[in-house]
Amino acid sequence: MKQILITGSSRGIGFEFVRQFLNAGNRVIACNRNPAKYPDLLELKEKFKENLILIDLDVSSKISIINAYDTLSKEIDRLDILINNAGIRFGGDEKHCDKIGLLFKEDFSRIFAVNTIGPILLIEKFLPLIKNGTNPIIVNISSTSGSIGRRTRPGGGYSYSASKAALNMISKVLSIDLKDDNIIVISMHPGWVKTTMELTENAPLTTYESVKGITKVLDNLTMDKTGKFFDWEGNELPW
Ligand SMILES: NC(=O)c1ccc[n+]([C@@H]2O[C@H](COP(=O)([O-])OP(=O)(O)OC[C@H]3O[C@@H](n4cnc5c(N)ncnc54)[C@H](OP(=O)(O)O)[C@@H]3O)[C@@H](O)[C@H]2O)c1
Repeated sequence: MKQILITGSSRGIGFEFVRQFLNAGNRVIACNRNPAKYPDLLELKEKFKENLILIDLDVSSKISIINAYDTLSKEIDRLDILINNAGIRFGGDEKHCDKIGLLFKEDFSRIFAVNTIGPILLIEKFLPLIKNGTNPIIVNISSTSGSIGRRTRPGGGYSYSASKAALNMISKVLSIDLKDDNIIVISMHPGWVKTTMELTENAPLTTYESVKGITKVLDNLTMDKTGKFFDWEGNELPW
C-alpha cells in the first residue's frame, strides 16, 4: 500500500487521482481548500475511511503549507508519491486574458503563486516525509504549454505557459538535488483533458483516461527517468 499526497483534489484530474489510487488499495492524502465543501470527496471518505485523509491546503499560502504539514506529520511518517496537481489557467477573473493587450502584473503573481511557487514550497516542507518513502516519486503536473521546445502556436498564454516552464525547471533542479536520496522527480503533461479548467471544453480525453495513463507511467518509473518531462502516455517531451 502506497501513501500518496495529491494537491488540488477537489475536482478534475486531482479528484480522479484520488478515486483511482483509493480503488487500487492505496492510502491517499487529498489536499484541498476546504475539503468539507466537496460532497464527492466526503462520499469517498465515508467509503474508504482511514485510507483517505482530507487535508485543508491552499498551495499559494506558506502558512497553509506549514499547517498542512503539522497536521499530516502527526498521522503519517512517510510519503511514497507526492503529486503537485493544483493549478489555475488564468490569474485574473477575466477569462481569455493572458494575451497581448490583456496582461496584468497581479494575474502573473497569482498564477505563479499557485502553479510554480506553491509546488516547490510544498516539496521543501514535506521533504522529511518523502525521504522516508519507499522508492519515492515527486510528480509536478505541468503542461505542453510550458514546453519551450514544442512551442509553435500563437495566441498568448504568457503567464500560464511561463508558470509551467518555470515549474519544469524546478523539476529539473530538484531531480539533481535529490538524486543521492534516490527520489525520482518528473514533470508530467496530463494530456488535454475535459475538466472544470477553462479552455478544456473541447478536450478529447477524460480524467479517467488521463489518470489511468499517468499511473501506468508512474508504475514503471526508475531512477534513470528522473529529471525528465513525460506525457500521460509515457512519451518524453522536450523542455
Ligand atoms: N485539463 C487539461 O487539459 C490540462 C492540460 C495540461 C495541464 N493541466 C494541469 O493539470 C492540473 C489539474 O488541472 P484540471 O484540469 O484538473 O483543473 P481543474 O478542474 O480546474 O482543477 C484544479 C484544481 O486545482 C485546485 N486549486 C486551484 N487553486 C488552488 C490553490 N490555491 N490551492 C489548492 N488547490 C487549488 C482546485 O481546487 P478548488 O476547488 O479549491 O478551486 C482544483 O481542485 C493543473 O495543474 C493544470 O494546469 C491540465
